Amino acid sequence: MPIPAVLAPVRRDATTDHYELACHEATAQALPGARTPIFGYGGVWPGVTLQVTRGRAAHVRVENRLRENVSVHNHGHHVAADSDGHPLAYVRPGQSRVYVYPNRQSGGTYWYHDHAMHQTGPHVYRGLAGFYLIHDPAEDELGLPSGEFDVPLCLQDRLFDAQNALLYKVDEGTTFTGLLGNAACVNGVHCPDFAVAARKYRLRLLNAANSRNLRLALSSGQPLVQIASDGALLPAPLSRKAIDLAPAERADCVVDFSALSPGASVVLRNLDPTWPEVPELLRFSVRRKATDASRVPARLSTVTRLDPARAHTTRRITFQLSDGKWTMNGLRYDPGRIDFRPRLGSTEIWELHNKEQTQMHPFHHHLVPFQVLDVNGEAPPPDLRGWKDTVAVPPAGRVRIIMRFEGFTGVYVFHCHKLEHEDHAMMLQEEVV
Ligand code: C2O
Ligand code: CU
Ligand code: CU
Repeated sequence: MPIPAVLAPVRRDATTDHYELACHEATAQALPGARTPIFGYGGVWPGVTLQVTRGRAAHVRVENRLRENVSVHNHGHHVAADSDGHPLAYVRPGQSRVYVYPNRQSGGTYWYHDHAMHQTGPHVYRGLAGFYLIHDPAEDELGLPSGEFDVPLCLQDRLFDAQNALLYKVDEGTTFTGLLGNAACVNGVHCPDFAVAARKYRLRLLNAANSRNLRLALSSGQPLVQIASDGALLPAPLSRKAIDLAPAERADCVVDFSALSPGASVVLRNLDPTWPEVPELLRFSVRRKATDASRVPARLSTVTRLDPARAHTTRRITFQLSDGKWTMNGLRYDPGRIDFRPRLGSTEIWELHNKEQTQMHPFHHHLVPFQVLDVNGEAPPPDLRGWKDTVAVPPAGRVRIIMRFEGFTGVYVFHCHKLEHEDHAMMLQEEVV
């Protein structure tokens, strides 16, 4: 199993690390035999990893060597609007653009991906997504598994043709369900084998599928110990038999292979029954014994709850089909229209109501993360009690979230993260004023 290479900065100064990143066509060894044509950041699928340090800014010059417009969005980043990768803020073919990332937010697992108008689905599908990891030196003292035992896993599903090329088609069916592949890929390879040592690993699980929901579990029945949700540590570790991960959600987990002897293996399974099923994602093969000084402390972080009594505004968003298109509040995305105008410094409650009976919609908000107040009127489960930037709104369900608009004014989108829903056209935008 490949682990995406970490991009080295071309230059460092007192406050900032400077990176150069080109996106271009390339091929990848996703399956045995013929190589698969892709679009790649750094020419690889998933893209090269940007590994930055909290408190140091990153300036990333992205050069577009493709023949189509792109726009790079850093998912979960607290960033000025002109570096957020708005759907029309194109980097045109042959051009480049510097994105300025402050990195003044929680350390954790983020990802960057294409966000071009109507093209996010096909572009991410062809490979335009990579990890953006923020390292917070203050978290080192927790003693979590680190270095080679801290591994990002990009989970996706794909359809391949007989020549191993990626198939992407949008018709009525895929517009409704989103694109669902029949081949699981982890870090760009179909069902890889990951050689591990008999010790603890931190696995940064990212659901980077276009539209597939995952329910992750280990074939050995041992728990996944979840330590972070989306981009932030949870208050305390959670021992979980299965983890639901909607598109764009992340869950960092610690898995301990120390009870297994060399030669044993464990499969990371997907128990979600959505057809076509992809029941297996990757195999961990224990190859050697190892000493292990890492640990999972009982307390990980402090999450200060936002107080709903302090909210200035409550907004409602319905998710529904209207005239064969996916909409929010009955509206299709229109980049010329501002849908909401939250005030900088205010706290808002958003009530998300899914009016459809079969489709879950993973709601994602740019700019600032949120906390979940309740799901179908009940207090959220423990895994939804940390900070989130994406949350699954279940079929016919209601989720209330609360967030504080901090740091930047300007225009930001929010949308369903099933990319075929987002592209057609389940997205609105707000201007923070
Ligand atoms: Cu992960 Cu608006 O995106
Ligand atoms: Cu985002
Ligand atoms: Cu949706």
